[in-house]
Amino acid sequence: MPRLAYVNGRYLPHAEARVPVEDRGYQFADGVYEVVAIVDGRFADFEGHMARLGRSLGALRIDWPMSRPALELVIRELIRRNGVKTGLLYLQISRGVAPREFKFPDPRVRPSLVLTTRTLGRFATPAQLEAGVGVITIPDIRWLRRDIKSVALLPQVLGKQQAVEAGCFEAWMVDGEGRVTEGCSSNAWIVTAAGTLVTRHADNLILNGVTRLSLLRLAERFGVATEVRPFTVAEAAAAREAFVSSATTFALPVTRIDGRPVGDGRPGALTLRLRAAYLDAVAGERS
Ligand code: PDD
Repeated sequence: MPRLAYVNGRYLPHAEARVPVEDRGYQFADGVYEVVAIVDGRFADFEGHMARLGRSLGALRIDWPMSRPALELVIRELIRRNGVKTGLLYLQISRGVAPREFKFPDPRVRPSLVLTTRTLGRFATPAQLEAGVGVITIPDIRWLRRDIKSVALLPQVLGKQQAVEAGCFEAWMVDGEGRVTEGCSSNAWIVTAAGTLVTRHADNLILNGVTRLSLLRLAERFGVATEVRPFTVAEAAAAREAFVSSATTFALPVTRIDGRPVGDGRPGALTLRLRAAYLDAVAGERS
C-alpha cells in the first residue's frame, strides 16, 4: 500500500499528489500550515495546533476548507490509511487556485487543503540526545508577522542551510539589538547560570510555538523560575543550558552556540527533564 496524500478531497499516492500551478500557495506563499507530531499513535498538542491554524487562517482572512469535525475525520483517515504510529502530520491550506493576480480572488474560490504524513522511527538520534546539537546565530531578516505560521519560509530555508553547512542543527535568528528571536523552525530557550528558564515573549516577532506553551506550563508545574523575555546572544553564551523546542524536536538540548560550548558542553538536566515530561504528557493525550 503506497503512502497517500490528501489533496482537495482526494486520497492520492503521495508521489503523484499535485496542486495546480496557479495555486496561490505556490504563486505567492499565500497559505498557512501546521506540523503535528504523532507519538505511539497519539497526537502531541493536537488542540493547540488546530487553534493556531485557526488564528493563522483568520489573520490572512482565509476560510477553513471544511468544518472542524470533517477535517478531523480526514486527518484520522489519512493517518489510518498510511498506518502512521510515530511520525508527523503536515497540514497546508492556501487561499486556493485562481488566475495570478495579487489581490484576493473571487470569494467563490475555495481554499486548497493538502495533508501529508511521514512515518519516523524516532524524533531525535541517540547522538543528538547524548551530545546535544549546535546552533549558529544569524540576522533575523524576516517580515513583521512571524506570529502567522505562513508557508513563506525563505529566510528560514537560507538560515537552516547555513546552519547545516556549519555542521549545526539550527540557526538562531537575532534582532538588531543582539537579542535572539527564535530558531528557523523552533523556539529558543536558555537556562541562566542562576537556573532561571528564559524564552522570548510571544508577539508579532516570533511564532508562538505550541510546544513552547506546553513546556512553559510544565515548567510552571515544576516550580521552575521562568522569565518570558528576550535574551541576547551574549547571555546565551554564558548560560548553563540551552535548547530548542518545536513539534519535531520537543525539547532538544543545544550544547554549542557559534562553536562555543554551552555550560559544561553537555545536555542540561532541566532540558532533559522538560523533554521527558512533555513526552509523558503526550502519552496521556487522546489517540
Ligand atoms: N516549525 N518558530 C518557528 C519559526 C517555527 O517554524 C516553529 C515550528 C516553531 C515551533 O513551533 P511549534 O512548537 O508549534 O512546532 C517556532 C515546524 C516544526 C516546521 O516548520 O517544521
